[in-house]
Amino acid sequence: MITAINNRRSIRRYKNQNVPRQMIEEIIEAGILAPSSKNRQPWKFIVTSGAAKKEALAAMERGLHREKETPLLPGCTQYIGGAENTLRIMEQAPIVIFIVNTLGLAIHSVLTPEERIYEMCNAQSIGAAIENMCLAAEEQGLGSLWICDTCFAYEELNHWLGSEGELFAALALGYADEQPAARPRKGIEEVTEWRVD
Ligand SMILES: Cc1cc2nc3c(=O)[nH]c(=O)nc-3n(C[C@H](O)[C@H](O)[C@H](O)COP(=O)(O)O)c2cc1C
Repeated sequence: MITAINNRRSIRRYKNQNVPRQMIEEIIEAGILAPSSKNRQPWKFIVTSGAAKKEALAAMERGLHREKETPLLPGCTQYIGGAENTLRIMEQAPIVIFIVNTLGLAIHSVLTPEERIYEMCNAQSIGAAIENMCLAAEEQGLGSLWICDTCFAYEELNHWLGSEGELFAALALGYADEQPAARPRKGIEEVTEWRVD
């Protein structure tokens, strides 16, 4: 798995080649094996391709248009262009898995400290599941892209989703049609403080 950690990249170009269902199932199994706070496993995975993916992405497109006119996230308008790029990548990827926080609290709710901690723990659990999925994809020779630009179409995508929970992220999957170099990382000295005897 260390090899997969080293070799994984965010992939933004995909070949027009189908991904076998069994590979997708193995990737979801890897997500399910992630640790989760209190073993709550607060996730659901909605696998889309073809017409269902088109329908979801049409909802995302409507959301990005609406976000330009009447933003739900007025402090983030500089990121909408990036979200439009992400949408084009999702259109190209053969598979997009939407990842739902089944215990998510609505974006406008005012949280008590306990609810905020609950949300933090569930978010970390789902993050662990998504990273497992990215690594499992890498190990199977597939590319992946972890996506949160779905947040800019929060209302529209959650409406498309129905009452499953809160949409947290999406994962694009497919055979990579690019080999990006590793993006720079901060060094261990910069991000680590040793408080040891
Ligand atoms: C929580 C999260 C959300 C992300 N959302 C997006 C996204 O919406 N669009 C995109 O192109 N990349 C997205 N990325 C990918 C990051 O840009 C990428 O991981 C980072 O630049 C490091 O590059 P690497 O993954 O190739 O190592 C996201 C990554 C994470 C972990």
